[in-house]
Amino acid sequence: TYVVTENCIRCKYMDCVEVCPVDCFYAGENMLVINPSECIDCGVCEPECPAKAIVPDSDDRASAWAETNATYAGQWPRITRKGEPPTDADEWKDKSDKGKLFSA
Ligand code: SF4
Ligand code: F3S
Repeated sequence: TYVVTENCIRCKYMDCVEVCPVDCFYAGENMLVINPSECIDCGVCEPECPAKAIVPDSDDRASAWAETNATYAGQWPRITRKGEPPTDADEWKDKSDKGKLFSA
């Protein structure tokens, strides 16, 4: 499966949603997650994210976020269309250590 990591927080560009063939993204307040039981591992979302937030689960960055993706995919609503990203998304794009800003 692929995993959305903390780079998504407060960026939420949603370009990933537009390309996913199985619509397995779920939207929280300030980030999205992927449902690991629906993701077919196609990889097309990874290069689409301007914040480089999406990684395969084999990536070092995935481990800290895999459980969050699995948990919240079962609680947040499915998102199938790109909406309006936060107006300050670009300001958050290159910030590191955004994990503490996670909001369910
Ligand atoms: Fe969707 Fe493919 Fe990305 Fe999985 S890897 S979330 S199936 S676009
Ligand atoms: Fe987040 Fe990137 Fe998608 S910022 S909403 S994972 S395009």
